[in-house]
Formats: sequence, structure tokens, C-alpha cells
Amino acid sequence: MNILILGSGGREHAISWKLAQSPKLTKLFIAPGNAGTEELGENVDLSVSNFDGIAKFSLENKVEMIVVGPEVPLVQGIHDFFEEKEELKHIHIIGPKKLGAQLEGSKKFSKEFMQRHNIPTARYKAFTAQTLEDGFAFLETLNPPFVLKADGLAAGKGVVIPDNLADAKKELTDMLANSKFGAASQEVVIEEFLNGIELSVFVLTDGENYKVLPTAKDYKRIGEGDKGLNTGGMGAISPVPFATKEFLDKVEEQIVKPSVNGLKKDNIDYVGFLFIGLMNVCGDPFVIEYNVRMGDPETEVVIPRIESDLVEVFTAVGNKTLNEIEFKVTDQTVCTVMAVSGGYPESYEKLKVIEGIEGIDESVVFHAGTKVLDGKIVTNGGRVLAISSFGANKKEALDKSYASLNKIGFEKMYYRTDIGFDLQ
Ligand code: AMP
Ligand code: GLY
Repeated sequence: MNILILGSGGREHAISWKLAQSPKLTKLFIAPGNAGTEELGENVDLSVSNFDGIAKFSLENKVEMIVVGPEVPLVQGIHDFFEEKEELKHIHIIGPKKLGAQLEGSKKFSKEFMQRHNIPTARYKAFTAQTLEDGFAFLETLNPPFVLKADGLAAGKGVVIPDNLADAKKELTDMLANSKFGAASQEVVIEEFLNGIELSVFVLTDGENYKVLPTAKDYKRIGEGDKGLNTGGMGAISPVPFATKEFLDKVEEQIVKPSVNGLKKDNIDYVGFLFIGLMNVCGDPFVIEYNVRMGDPETEVVIPRIESDLVEVFTAVGNKTLNEIEFKVTDQTVCTVMAVSGGYPESYEKLKVIEGIEGIDESVVFHAGTKVLDGKIVTNGGRVLAISSFGANKKEALDKSYASLNKIGFEKMYYRTDIGFDLQ
């Protein structure tokens, strides 16, 4: 089977790495890809939003399946685009259609979905510039801190959590009246603050059946001890030790089943990953958010733990026969530590030569922001490499990733040395 993966991060390299292990794979294409994916398949110089270009390429190269990494093409309707055209509709798209992608594309849509299907989540209300005063009144009924979420996609920056009422009102005004996040904050969801510890659960569904993938916890802040600015993610661990069987049974009964059934009841034909961001509040799970794709860097710990053939798994998703396959996951722990460009997540320099990757044998080096320039691998983004390692436990896995990082270098490389610090 010929498969095209859309995206260019560590997530897409990890998916490519796993697909490339399958005897069922014929040719792998990655658009646009990075220096890591180039070693596993053919990078194609196409943007993930260039649907016409992707369609033409897919027909010319007999692509039978497209795995969509990031959310943007899903929210823009790539699945609908392929399904609506006679000559393209045989190509399986792993990723939901436009309507399902609204679970990530609109916070309000996702809160309404959860409310409609009795899925535990924080109490909320949504406001626009016209109802700003009502927003102030709602804030006054809540206890600090306050959670304000821009309704639309804001590249992971649309959630603000002020710790006092005055700041919360100012923030709400900035978002609604002063377009702080542009069109994304034309509407704002205000919700109760949930006190607990976060984790992510991933589900793969064919619209009828589902498989729950390994859990993961990511580390979003740039600084040690979870301090400083938010990033795309600085590291991750799977499994999450506090996600006990009892807790995961609650997640499956109270959240996964009602989510998959809710999509069916609402006639939302959903094929692909559902990433459920959860808060564990005293042993009970609450949904913080849905994403309609895999997480990054969570993919770099979740995918390596899957033992089943991923081409077979995705084929079953496309054929709606996910119930017929056995889904195997290793008990081993996998961690990943991100090496980022100095200055990230603010401004940083690119095109720094990366040394030492070829000498790594205890870890898998997933590329994120990298490319090949004059025969050398150079940095090409904020998050540069995700160093993933297996271990019998968290410590063993982390020790390997940190030992590997000691052998890798580029000018101004930075990484957190405390990934997993809050876990047993
Ligand atoms: P989101 O983009 O919805 O995942 O929100 C970004 C981050 O804000 C989450 O990862 C949480 O750390 C935090 N957050 C979002 N909603 C809440 C909430 N209701 N209570 C506490 N923290 C939250
Ligand atoms: N690591 C969080 C995300 O991918 O959204």
C-alpha cells in the first residue's frame, strides 16, 4: 500500500517510523516532512493545506491512504474534499471530516457536545462582544483562577488563566472587544477551574468501533518544574502511573464510550484519532479539551508502545473493521525529551548544524524542526528533536534519553532535565 502522511513534526516522523516497519507498506510519502522522514520515505514539497496539490500527487502516485498529522487541514475539510470527488473517494483518509474536526476547531462546539452527551467537563458559558457584560457577571459567580478560552484555533495559545477577577475581566475584554486572538476570539468560553493532575488519553475510531491507545502525560512549559511560557510540548511519558485500571475504566465508561456514541448519535462520521485532554480530579476524570489528531510530543511515546502493525490498524480504520483486529501494546515505559532551539518559544535562530545523531543507539531520535542543507542536518524550527527511549520503568527510559542527549548537540540547544518529575 502507498501511504501519504501530512505534516512535518516529530509526530509525523514517529508515525512514519512505525508505518515503515510494516511489510504491508509499499511506498511512503511525507508532505512536507523533515530530515528524519526523508530517511524513511519520500518527502514531497506540498503544504498540508494545498488540497488540489495533494489530490493530484495522490492520483499520480497511486496513494491509497492519507494520514493527516495536524488539525488545520482537518478543520479546513480535507476529508470532505476527498470524499466528495469521484476520482478521490477510494483513498482512505485517517482523520475526521470538517464537522467532527469542530471538536477541536471550536471550544463552544466541543462544550455543547459534552453537555449534550453527559460527558463530565467543567461548567461553562460562552460569550461574544455583544454579551461582554454578561461575561463579567458570569465571572463574578466563579471562584479564581478563571479559565478563558478563545473559541477558535489559536495555535495552542488561546487559553488564558488569570488568577484574579480584575485581570479576568480585562482579558475577556481584550479577547472579545480587542480581537486579541483575531477571529478565534470572536467568541469566548469561560469555564470553572478544575484542580487536579492532567493526562491525555487517545482513541482511534472507525466511527463504529474504537481502540483506546496508551495514555501519556506531556510537559508543556519551557522551564523546569513546569515554569515559564507554554510550548508545543517539551517531553512526554507513557504510560501515566496514576492512570490506574480503576481510573481508566471510568474514562472508558464515562468519556470514551459516550464520546464515540455521541458522534454516532449526532451523525458525525468520525474516522481517526480523538485526543482527550483530561483532568484527574480526586480520582474522577473530566474532559479539558478534545483534539482531533494525535498530540506532539505524545505521539513520540504512544506510537512506539504499539506492537500491532500500524498499516493493518489504519486499514481497519478505513474499512470500519477495527473490531476485527487485535491491538497489542507493550508494558514498557517510553519517555521522550525534546531538544529545542535556544530562545524558543520566543524568537530563535534556525539552520544550526546538528551533530551526533548517527551515534545514538539506545534511543530513537524523532526529528521535528529539521531539514537537510548541503548534505548536513540543520535546525529548522523551535522544537528540533524528540529523543524517545524504552525502559522497564520511567527512570530507565529517561536515563537513556538523557544519555543520548549528551551525545547530540547544536548551537544553543536546550532541553528540560526534569521530564516526569511529578510522577511516581
Ligand atoms: P486547552 O487548550 O483547552 O487544553 O487548555 C490549555 C491548558 O489550560 C490545559 O492543558 C490545562 O492546563 C489548562 N486548562 C484548560 N481548562 C482548564 C480548566 N477548566 N481547569 C484548569 N485548567 C484548565
Ligand atoms: N502536546 C499537546 C498537543 O499536541 O496539543
